[in-house]
Amino acid sequence: SNPSLLILPGDGIGPEVMAQVMRIIDWYGAKRGLKFDVSEDLVGGCAYDKHGTPLHDDTMAKAQEVDAVLLGAVGGPKYDKLDFSVKPERGLLRLRKEMDLYANLRPAQCFDALADFSSLKKDVVAGLDIMIVRELTSGVYFGEPRGIFKEGNERVGINTQRYTESEIARVARSAFELARKRNNKVCSMEKANVMESGILWRDVVTEVHEAEYKDVELSHMYADAGAMQLTRWPKQFDVIVTDNLFGDLLSDLAAMLTGSLGMLPSASLGAPMENGRPKALYEPVHGSAPDIAGQGKANPIACVLSFAMALRYSFDKGAEAERLESAVNAVLAKGIRTADLLNAEGVTPVSTSQMGDAILA
Ligand code: NAI
Ligand code: MG
Repeated sequence: SNPSLLILPGDGIGPEVMAQVMRIIDWYGAKRGLKFDVSEDLVGGCAYDKHGTPLHDDTMAKAQEVDAVLLGAVGGPKYDKLDFSVKPERGLLRLRKEMDLYANLRPAQCFDALADFSSLKKDVVAGLDIMIVRELTSGVYFGEPRGIFKEGNERVGINTQRYTESEIARVARSAFELARKRNNKVCSMEKANVMESGILWRDVVTEVHEAEYKDVELSHMYADAGAMQLTRWPKQFDVIVTDNLFGDLLSDLAAMLTGSLGMLPSASLGAPMENGRPKALYEPVHGSAPDIAGQGKANPIACVLSFAMALRYSFDKGAEAERLESAVNAVLAKGIRTADLLNAEGVTPVSTSQMGDAILA
């Protein structure tokens, strides 16, 4: 049977960019014989409007069953005053939590035609293609004890960095599995020089590597040195695996090596399912962009590249993912730009659907 895909376009520009991806999915079915069982459902504000909840239980159940979920974006000013429990973002948080998506993948990928867009020198970023794997469900953002306490006559704010072996091992496996689908190289980042959790992190990553992934090249780096190396010469890396806090900082840094929010895809992966595929949610990094929603101005590339990630990491179609990425590269090389990719005057931007047309062509 065909692999299954649940599409959740969401709110604002979500449906606009997703419409272009659906055309691309149809193209793969018609032209490449790559057919998916696609179902579509509501998430976020639109789900609240219809059901009074940002994620219906039936949608949640569907998400647990499919091979991959592809999401547009959620939220918008219309929903800003809603109670916290039914805010659009809660729909997304529920998906991440109940699917237990502990590995967050943020690529930093630079298309040659956009190398001028970076704040770094062109030869430092041209052709860059690296992947940061951030542990997403544990670490200092969740550890106990936490809170602001009274200590003598002053207050003390406490967070606890806490990682179990199994939490480290599972995200390490996600990183090694990805590396096998890329360039077989992982760099693990922590601060084993000053943190106990860093010592354990380095030990466990090394043990998992020794036992299961000897074919992958593994190196270790202190996270602060990693930040320097990421801006000095990012092309030395392929896959970087790191904890929740360091990953938060390093993935934002790496993403901005390459330019616009409208270009950035992401994935969140969980444990392997019975068929061996990881639980997976793919989505652009950007939000629902209410300032441009409904105007046909949104750049669909972040969402298109999220689908390319799904092809590569959920469906083992690396060559087809490359086909899609090359199409994006070719379109950009021709100078075709949505408004967010323009910094020169005198160039007319294309619309969302015209960008879709160009990628398909
Ligand atoms: P945003 O990412 O929606 O927009 C930030 C800026 O980037 C805006 O000027 C927007 O026009 C531009 N932009 C974003 N994506 C673009 C694209 N594909 N093409 C061209 N321009 C693009 O972030 P913002 O404005 O902070 O949040 C807007 C709404 O989205 C809020 O309700 C927020 O809660 C929600 N949001 C949802 C996310 C998600 O669904 N994962 C993530 C971030 C925000
Ligand atoms: Mg952040």
